[in-house]
Amino acid sequence: MRNLMITGGAGFIGSNFVRYVLDRHPAYRIVVYDKLTYAGNLDNLRDVAERWPKRYAFVHGDICDAALVRETVAAHEVDTVVDFAAETHVDRSIMDPAAFIKTDVYGTYVLLEATREMGLERMHQVSTDEVYGHVPEGSSKETDAVAPRSPYAASKTSADLMINAYHVTYGLPVTITRGANNIGPYQYPEKVVPLFTTNALDDIPLPLYGDGLQVRDYHYVLDHCEAIDLVLHAGEIGAIYNVGTGAEVPNIEMARVILRLLGKPESLIQPVRDRPGHDRRYALDVEKMRALGWEPAHTCVEAIESTVRWYVENEWWWRPIKSGKRYQEYYRRQYEGREIQ
Ligand code: NAD
Ligand code: DAU
Repeated sequence: MRNLMITGGAGFIGSNFVRYVLDRHPAYRIVVYDKLTYAGNLDNLRDVAERWPKRYAFVHGDICDAALVRETVAAHEVDTVVDFAAETHVDRSIMDPAAFIKTDVYGTYVLLEATREMGLERMHQVSTDEVYGHVPEGSSKETDAVAPRSPYAASKTSADLMINAYHVTYGLPVTITRGANNIGPYQYPEKVVPLFTTNALDDIPLPLYGDGLQVRDYHYVLDHCEAIDLVLHAGEIGAIYNVGTGAEVPNIEMARVILRLLGKPESLIQPVRDRPGHDRRYALDVEKMRALGWEPAHTCVEAIESTVRWYVENEWWWRPIKSGKRYQEYYRRQYEGREIQ
């Protein structure tokens, strides 16, 4: 493993992973392959391009474009694909599922075919705990049945199933990680933690869905990156690994912690109509990952503190996004008239 193609590397987790790998593996080279959708942003990689100009390259491309994928693999002598490229926001998948099916399902198939035809050493898929659906009690093991409930979750699940089929049918060397909610630097401010943090900084209401008692496991993005790196190097071919901390944080508690950290009043919390089909709880059993020797380095509280600090210190990054026409139109469409009094 020497030449990695990181699809979706200009997004949140992908850009953190690029930095992590270049820092940790001095012999590796990376080509980021990214369509630069609304969520892709070369600002996420600005320091990477400056720090490692000889070991980092960027290709602007769609994973659904089979010819360009193959051309990039050949030109950069890629031996390993790590696939972060996806449409990722559940609310957008409810508004308009088409892009999710194209990228998350068909795009993954294109990468599988390239891996097969070009005889690559590995394709790793970055998947999600949402494939297990709502988990009323206990925690999901990798062997549990999948039961996705949103168009986003269904498209990610379809990709996981196709990856497994390629492993069984063609013996393709694949691995999958299923991560819980990541937080940290460079997360697009549509996701709840950067949205609440940046709204609070501007004294704008925090739109809390329903009763706010939905539970998520928020873990630090670099812990997730470390887990993916470990699976790439020590994971069993064909296997799936859950990645999370096991901590359970209700959304209302997350909102309160963010406001407390920023010294803002709880009156900024604005209940809004719930997300349709909202999964109330995800919970992962992460024993299999632990057995590989992985342990998250950040507690949930540390992860939230350091994420909030990053947004306080990096207005240069999020202010242009939030003041842009595209973001403001999305915000209006998503939240206008949704308040519950
Ligand atoms: P993100 O939305 O921040 O970034 C996605 C990136 O993919 C962007 O750079 C975008 O331009 C790129 N992209 C989208 N469609 C593409 C296409 N057709 N071709 C090439 N590039 C394309 O996403 P993220 O939060 O960093 O998530 C990365 C991956 O991790 C996704 O596969 C997601 O399902 C998975 N995941 C995310 C979380 C989370 O909490 N954010 C948790 C578990 C798993
Ligand atoms: O669990 C992993 C998943 O986490 C990833 O696969 C997805 O790509 C990622 O987007 C994330 O999905 P969620 O739906 O859990 O994340 P989101 O930040 O959208 O919402 C987190 C919780 O906060 C969820 O219960 C809904 C709630 N929420 C969200 C928004 C955007 C609100 O209460 N208000 C909001 O405005």
